[in-house]
Amino acid sequence: MKIVTVLGARPQFIKAGPVSREIRKNHEEIIIHTGQHYDANMSDIFFTELNIPKPDYHLNVGSGSHGVQTANMLIQIEEILLKETPDYVLVYGDTNSTLAGSLAASKLHIPIVHVEAGLRSFNKKMPEEVNRILTDHVSSFLFCPSDTSVNNLKEENITKHVYNVGDVMYDAVRYNQDIADKSTILTDIGAASKDYYLITVHRAENTEDRERIENILAAFSQIEGTKVWPIHPRTKNKLLSYGIDLDKIPGLKVIEPIGYLDMLCLEKNAKKILTDSGGVQKEAYFVQTPCVTLRDETEWIETLKDNANVLVGANTEKILEAVQLTCDSDYPPIFGSGNTSEQIVKILSDNQ
Ligand code: UD1
Ligand code: UDP
Repeated sequence: MKIVTVLGARPQFIKAGPVSREIRKNHEEIIIHTGQHYDANMSDIFFTELNIPKPDYHLNVGSGSHGVQTANMLIQIEEILLKETPDYVLVYGDTNSTLAGSLAASKLHIPIVHVEAGLRSFNKKMPEEVNRILTDHVSSFLFCPSDTSVNNLKEENITKHVYNVGDVMYDAVRYNQDIADKSTILTDIGAASKDYYLITVHRAENTEDRERIENILAAFSQIEGTKVWPIHPRTKNKLLSYGIDLDKIPGLKVIEPIGYLDMLCLEKNAKKILTDSGGVQKEAYFVQTPCVTLRDETEWIETLKDNANVLVGANTEKILEAVQLTCDSDYPPIFGSGNTSEQIVKILSDNQ
């Protein structure tokens, strides 16, 4: 079995860690890195620390508008697929790299494997929602992380080769947790276990809307104690363009984006996580740290039980209230048992 994997953004490198390892036990994999994320701490660091095989092709598309970025990827991916003639093209999640990979493959009639299929926010203003709907509708194998995502597909009449296999991010956490426990990040940044909040913000809906980001920052200013924020380059650039100075927020430690192992360590030791990230919401659940989600909706509705995750949008008061809530969750396992990658590769190989 020959699989071409298309990836390009930070969360996709992390998801590829366990899946690529599993594919390569008995099959051939060619990796195309679109170059959507390119800073060393948004890309290379993950390949090195997670031992992900070096990409066979690097498209270097870089940043740009949705049209320019996706079109540049599409042109180059098509050429490579014609040359490599794989049995499957595998894509992860909902980024522009996902859409480019699936569009290129669908026109060449190469079966598409969508990992993290069926997720819906029901908000089509999100670029991710459009990317994932289009990808699901041209995919031949749809690997869902939850019953909710299977049902979402059913609602859209997608039922063939739909599998609930759990979440590959859980595989990644299980594989890396012990290594992450040895991280020295807490000492490096001068934070103490369970004595800080961990923050990440990067969604277009928050960063591109000045009022929303200002409301979020107003809450951060009023939350007492240490707050650690590995800042996404998109957010850093946007705040600079708004003329907003984060130094004015008391107790805030802004750091550059960090590697996955340091991130897992920070997530596990935080007293609470405030985020608009999809991946970080799930990881908060996996490491059992209560989460406050800075969005109006979430695809990961299972995590919302017993205050394990609380949806607050960009509302200052709601954020402050949620930070005070106690979490009563016993964190039942809801995204599989950590063998998702194995199941994916077995199903693909059995269906050849
Ligand atoms: C993308 C995905 C989003 C995902 C996120 C993960 C789309 C539409 N969005 O959002 O779903 O949650 O990745 O992090 O695909 N930049 C750099 N260096 C980099 C990468 C980005 O400086 O290495 C800056 C550039 O100014 C760029 C901006 O970040 O314009 C946005 O990058 P882009 O990849 O377009 O979107 P993300 O916000 O990263
Ligand atoms: N992450 C990381 N370093 C950071 C911030 C996030 O390694 O500085 C990891 C995080 O642990 C998770 C993934 O990146 O595995 C989430 O990616 P992101 O928030 O960029 O995108 P999303 O999941 O929202 O698409």
